[in-house]
Amino acid sequence: MSIAQKEILDLNRFDAASVQGLPPALAGQVARRQASFGASSVLFFEQPIDMVRAEGAYLYDDAGRRYLDVYNNVPSVGHCHPRVVEAIARQAGQLNIHTRYLNQVVDAYAEDLLSRFPAPLSNVVMTCTGSESNDLAMRIARIVTGAEGFIVTEAAYHGNTALVTEISPSSLRKRKPAPFVAVVPAPQARDGLDVAEGFAASVENAIAELQARGIGTAALIVDTIFSSDGVFADPPGFLQMAAALVHRAGGLLIADEVQPGFGRTGGGLWGFERHGITPDIVTMGKPMGNGFPMGGVVTRPDFLKQFCEETGYFNTFGGNPVAAAAGHAVLKVLDEEGLIDRSRAVGDYFRRSLQALMAEHAEIGAVRGAGLFIGLDFIAPATGHPDTAIATWVINQLRQKGILIGAAGKYGATLKIRPPLCFSKADVDVFAGALADCLKAR
Ligand SMILES: Cc1ncc(COP(=O)(O)O)c(C=O)c1O
Repeated sequence: MSIAQKEILDLNRFDAASVQGLPPALAGQVARRQASFGASSVLFFEQPIDMVRAEGAYLYDDAGRRYLDVYNNVPSVGHCHPRVVEAIARQAGQLNIHTRYLNQVVDAYAEDLLSRFPAPLSNVVMTCTGSESNDLAMRIARIVTGAEGFIVTEAAYHGNTALVTEISPSSLRKRKPAPFVAVVPAPQARDGLDVAEGFAASVENAIAELQARGIGTAALIVDTIFSSDGVFADPPGFLQMAAALVHRAGGLLIADEVQPGFGRTGGGLWGFERHGITPDIVTMGKPMGNGFPMGGVVTRPDFLKQFCEETGYFNTFGGNPVAAAAGHAVLKVLDEEGLIDRSRAVGDYFRRSLQALMAEHAEIGAVRGAGLFIGLDFIAPATGHPDTAIATWVINQLRQKGILIGAAGKYGATLKIRPPLCFSKADVDVFAGALADCLKAR
């Protein structure tokens, strides 16, 4: 099948060459952005949006138009949640400094966060981003195992540092992954094997490959909902076989919870819980501060000790009191508003609605997911192959209807559905109705 593969950051990207086709005022704003950001500028949609404010599951543009947010998982407990905003403002007015002084706000947060992990995961290192968390996790894994190699999925994205870019095949434009990386397909049933067996067989080959290259396996790193690969959630538990193989080979399991963490999958706080496994290292980011930039690495004390004996680690802004206040407010809102249960209930309703649409529209090839993380594949009805053009068209049609959505997957043909967890069943109906209207109008 010769279908162009798409880089995750390129999906649904505004084409800089089309700036002249925009209304004059918008063209001016886009040109202004391009003048400062240069080639690194990425804007969403054929017609970019100037966003001004947000609340709950809605954003508002400069003309006051409202958009339903079905895309953004960072403001996870709801855009500008008053409790989180208040915690940030209060702490910013009191003290904001690194973690080299004692501070009760910081310690209370670390304890509460760690109480939500299984033994023996009882130490945390605070960072500012998911990328920093994965970079640190990789360094810990290398020191603990003495091995150099990493196993990743083929459309994975784990972040932007030099090291982490090497284990993010979806970011590599003009070259192959580094020699210390072995790439495996996204978990899917194949060749008479079920999902667990198929994924384990790929991981077993990757372990042998890294062994043959003389570098060994430091870790298998997985986003536990496989979001950039196109959302692969089921059946729960399918990661167990692969994790056992990696451990047998002396490697670690790193669970990247940057996307699924903090309740999104509706099956607990962490995506790995659905699989009945305990990772060796867990990395966090995005929803951790509901928009306040923060990340973290949770691991075993003996692993962290080994790492710290080898090398110093200091992160100026990681775990500062304002970050801790934001992070703690997020945990409390998740508890008090029952957002994990809500994610499960609204997510189940969402998948059922989309499956009903699938029965009517041959362009929808599959609906997958857990909680409020759902992937919807677009296919060409005649061939059954992934259809990136339909996905791109639908995304831009929905934007015109006031709905924000994006794509994922190797071919960019999967709608990546991950709204704030305050999303309601009425919001699901709005989205499903608008998607049905788009498909009927094709
Ligand atoms: C699974 C995953 N891990 C890590 C990262 C990197 O996080 P950040 O952009 O905060 O550095 C991302 C970002 O999209 C991600 O999706």
